[in-house]
Amino acid sequence: MAPTRLIIDTDPGVDDAVAIMLALASPELDVLALTTVVGNVELEKTTLNARRLLSLARRSDVLVGRGCADPIGGVSGTAAEVHGQDGLGDLSWPEPTVKESDEDAIEMIYRLAKEAPLTLVAIGPLTNLATLLQRHPDVVEHIERVVIMGGASFEGNVTPAAEFNIWVDPEAAAIVFAGDWKLDIMPLDLTHQAYLTDDDLAFLRDLNSEVGDRLAAMLEPYAKFHEEWVGNRDLIMHDAMAIYEVIDPTAIKKSGVKADVETSGIHSRGATWFSRSFHHAESPTRVGVKVHNPTFVQLLRERLATFPSKN
Ligand code: BDR
Ligand code: CA
Repeated sequence: MAPTRLIIDTDPGVDDAVAIMLALASPELDVLALTTVVGNVELEKTTLNARRLLSLARRSDVLVGRGCADPIGGVSGTAAEVHGQDGLGDLSWPEPTVKESDEDAIEMIYRLAKEAPLTLVAIGPLTNLATLLQRHPDVVEHIERVVIMGGASFEGNVTPAAEFNIWVDPEAAAIVFAGDWKLDIMPLDLTHQAYLTDDDLAFLRDLNSEVGDRLAAMLEPYAKFHEEWVGNRDLIMHDAMAIYEVIDPTAIKKSGVKADVETSGIHSRGATWFSRSFHHAESPTRVGVKVHNPTFVQLLRERLATFPSKN
């Protein structure tokens, strides 16, 4: 079977970095571009980080398209306390060899979608996807499926109601949820089942590869943040769940839903509402509900081990 043509819309982000490396190392996927959006840090930084990650992986064949600098709904905030001031754990990086394209992210996605069927994976706020739908409504005819990381059925991680990617731009999420396309949503209830531990950090270091070293180094402060926040060093692999879903569509159990987003409310702005009533069992919108972490971690380890070693 031909690999799935894929664009990753992203705000790197430490867990974005793992997801991107997993995608680049997976023969089931043909990663055409990283399109960047404001989110974990400002757009300037997420775009630089996309270039850094592709340079690290020596993948100058993958395009970088700069997307939206501001949420549709106005100013929200970043997650630099989780991902570092630079978004990738504040390491020092060489000047990236991979350049940014002149083409803007929205036009890039639209052009590549019209060339052949395309899968869109969004692992940051949904501003670019919403702008794409507004600017080019016919794009839905060319998109095979959309898989996003975002939302929560039960509890958010920025506020009790809202998960970060949705909280940044609830208006954009509402537009994307209402889009006439096949949509799979990987919410916190699922992504918290997928995590790495200190054993996996040791595994990454032992790979003796540039990719392994860098990922281990940027995951270290991510573990520290989690320890201070909730008392354990679990490295939650939020964004990798969206990539895992495309690599193996049977791995994550999903449920048909009606999905909506709160765009107002005193405490509820950015809350996602997933109705899992039997009426929606066959809905084109589904949420991920269950994943087997050991199987995921084994696949991730195998794939990351394919990056070349240092000597
Ligand atoms: C999401 O928020 C970001 O900080 C992560 O990269 C992930 O996409 C998890 O809530
Ligand atoms: Ca992200």
